[in-house]
Amino acid sequence: MVTLLVATRSVGKAREAKALLEAAGVTVVLPADQGLAELPEEEHLEVGTTFAENAVAKARYFARRSGMPTVADDSGLEVTALGNAPGVQSKRWAGAFGVPLAVDQANNAHLLSELAGVPDGERQAQYRCALTLIDPEGGRLVVVEGVVRGHILTEPRGTNGFGYDPLFFCDLLGKSFGQATAEEKDRVSHRAEAFRALLEEICPAPFNTVKGQL
Ligand code: IMP
Repeated sequence: MVTLLVATRSVGKAREAKALLEAAGVTVVLPADQGLAELPEEEHLEVGTTFAENAVAKARYFARRSGMPTVADDSGLEVTALGNAPGVQSKRWAGAFGVPLAVDQANNAHLLSELAGVPDGERQAQYRCALTLIDPEGGRLVVVEGVVRGHILTEPRGTNGFGYDPLFFCDLLGKSFGQATAEEKDRVSHRAEAFRALLEEICPAPFNTVKGQL
């Protein structure tokens, strides 16, 4: 049985990662389960210019602290009309700190104001997720990415998900991620695509059968 540490403090990301990995027979533990207290230095792990760089930095850090095979996600929103901003700045784009809901609300308000006056046909966007697996024992490093395309709405729809989800209309689902159920989002999201690619890399044949149903 494969056990992985999922290196995130985000409740939303942890829920999605757990659902996607556990469906493939992987046991997931979180930093808090391992007694890894949240340290101020974690705020400074994401200083890279790409999602992949940041995911590698997070996975290295938590693999060192836990000694376990560790998966880290770095993800965000890329808006075409904004030159792919906020990108790696997605989490702190509006400069807000505090509880996740307040940070998300500030980011969403900022997104709407940056896109004010941009017509419907020019609001394309995508979420991108880079995932890294580091196995300290075998010295193995895997990096994969997933993308999901859509556009940015002019007002929020739905309250499900987290982050920019109420403003992100997903082309594949024909609704916003804020309106989608967790199961719907987990079928098509950037994170789901990245986890599928990661499972291809790490799972022996019996897991692949289950993984095909994700
Ligand atoms: P980080 O990967 O922890 O640096 O932050 C990712 C940020 O990108 C989150 O705080 C959200 O603002 C945004 N983001 C990434 N994935 C999602 C998603 O699935 N839904 C909504 N927002 C997301």
